[in-house]
Amino acid sequence: MNEKETDAVQFLISQHRALEHLLKQTADADSDEKKKALFAEAGDQLTVHIKSEEEIFYPAVKAARTEDDLLESLEEHLSLKRLLADLLPLDPSEKLFEPKFKVLKEQTEHHHKEEEEHLFPAVLKLLDGPQRHTLGQEMIALQMRLATRGEPREAVVNETAAAAPLE
Ligand SMILES: [Fe+2]
Ligand SMILES: [Fe+2]
Repeated sequence: MNEKETDAVQFLISQHRALEHLLKQTADADSDEKKKALFAEAGDQLTVHIKSEEEIFYPAVKAARTEDDLLESLEEHLSLKRLLADLLPLDPSEKLFEPKFKVLKEQTEHHHKEEEEHLFPAVLKLLDGPQRHTLGQEMIALQMRLATRGEPREAVVNETAAAAPLE
């Protein structure tokens, strides 16, 4: 990976686009079987993305001018985890799958927009290139660790009570 790809902000933005693409493919899938497989993949990607933000990125960019955005983001993560936890046991043929999936997709897109329009510009002022590079590498390492542990999406069922703390 080159410097740009490991810049924490660039890395998160490119994951946003990849996840949005996967959610669209899931929405457009022409069979329940395909939809189930694509949804499982999207759930894993969303979970490891959120985890690396909550455990590495958000704590590293916590400052007076980012705190309100970070707290709002953590509440949005909680809402996404709850929707994901509701959806995991459902089969795409079940009546509730489509409406819940639609809300998950819309909320994910909204959340990405909020991070990119409010949080990330503030982070670019807070951290220089080398700092963002180090942070990006830490997030990539954590995501890889989580991805090798089977099905990362299953972890969200234990995280639906309250938003993750901002530490
Ligand atoms: Fe996020
Ligand atoms: Fe994000």
